[in-house]
Amino acid sequence: MKDAGQARNWRAVVASAQGRIRIGKDAMDRIRLIGGERLTGTIPISGAKNAALPLMIASLLTSDTLTLTNIPQLADVTQLARILGNHGVDLAIAGKRPGQSSIDGQTFRLTAGDIVDTVAPYEMVSKMRASFWVLGPLLAREGEACVSLPGGCAIGTRPVDLHLEGLKALGAEIELDGGYVKARAPQGLRGGRVVFPKVSVGATHNVLMAAALAKGESVIENAAREPEVGDVAECLIKMGAQIDGVGTSTLRIQGVDGLSGAEHAVLPDRIETGTYAMAVAATGGDVLLERARGDLLETALDVLRGAGVEITATNRGLHVARNGAGLAPVEVETSPFPGFPTDLQAQLMALMARADGTSTIRETIFENRFMHVQELARLGADIALDGDTAHITGVDVLHGAQVMATDLRASVSLVIGGLMAEGETVINRVYHLDRGFERIEEKLGRCGARIERLSA
Ligand code: UD1
Repeated sequence: MKDAGQARNWRAVVASAQGRIRIGKDAMDRIRLIGGERLTGTIPISGAKNAALPLMIASLLTSDTLTLTNIPQLADVTQLARILGNHGVDLAIAGKRPGQSSIDGQTFRLTAGDIVDTVAPYEMVSKMRASFWVLGPLLAREGEACVSLPGGCAIGTRPVDLHLEGLKALGAEIELDGGYVKARAPQGLRGGRVVFPKVSVGATHNVLMAAALAKGESVIENAAREPEVGDVAECLIKMGAQIDGVGTSTLRIQGVDGLSGAEHAVLPDRIETGTYAMAVAATGGDVLLERARGDLLETALDVLRGAGVEITATNRGLHVARNGAGLAPVEVETSPFPGFPTDLQAQLMALMARADGTSTIRETIFENRFMHVQELARLGADIALDGDTAHITGVDVLHGAQVMATDLRASVSLVIGGLMAEGETVINRVYHLDRGFERIEEKLGRCGARIERLSA
């Protein structure tokens, strides 16, 4: 229930978040950092962006209120709130309960009483690819949806064929018209068998949410096993969905007539966890990553342990430290969960720029996810690219420089590079960072990093 003192509508939320994280006219903010400081202390790990976004989208599946806690304060969340508002989702943000602090994340109450618009326009979808995932839920609930194609993006072509084939298997009629996907299911979606030829996180989300409301049984084979998919499935189950096989690559869904409201806490961000673990390793620091869960990123933690980083699970989170010893080089290939995540590839490359020897990192998920290479080279990193593989030969010293953020994960690799470099690094186009890393200057600054935001 909304309370004027405790809740604001989504427009106010968007406005206030815009003010705080300064998207829009101040999008050209820069981050300045002086390298060489050890990180020590505590870094709170936020709720996972990649779970928060599809969970918010799941609110389209019911006219009841979906309450989500531990939502991170990020530009992508703000943008999605705006998009969902356009479809008719009312968002109220709850105030903090006594004893809660900023680490507890935000509480969103999303209510899609009526879907007022089944069109997701280009201006909105082009700003954030995950907003394409409204397609399945809108189609399942309303029998129609018209969603702009997300278009290309800096890390590759990123097609949506798997999403469309999956929805077709559930009976959707789909046509492409003027850059839009027009999907219809006049008699409602029906259960079907979807065999993905390739693992796709987004297509799994889209088809899973649609199947929850389809008539009869659906089976999704070769489903993504990323923990964020599991988190969404758990939330859907709380809402009344019938899903078997959560956490495996075969999801079996018995469609139900309707879903109800529920309350769900977003799981901790494993990519933020891995990123800060690497930042700590980069500076020879000693930090507790509060609320981090090691089971969400075992492969990445094993790689770091192999490189000489100490990582121990405690009841408060993960303790990460590197004593004076050097870093051993690594050999890593990105792959779908439980493999090494592509979203940590750039950060690992930055770390290995100072390792004692040559590391090899192969990117198998996205074809063009090496834009950070030329920027890391500006700091003095020695990286040779050979197709989908990078060979990184550790150097004794990196030097601060002006660099450009090109995408979300690439940007944060430059922060790690800057933390290791001698002198001043200035990172331009910080808005990429604001999409996915909550209060990064504050979190690192509190642990001793010399980092500040320069407003445009
Ligand atoms: C999600 C994550 C992103 C992560 C990626 C891979 C969110 C919000 N984003 O993105 O951070 O880097 O998973 O772990 O959760 N593909 C196709 N056809 C399709 C869909 C995808 O060929 O219809 C390809 C992509 O081009 C890519 C691969 O499949 O090569 C994996 O992409 P996918 O898992 O779909 O990534 P996203 O869901 O967009």
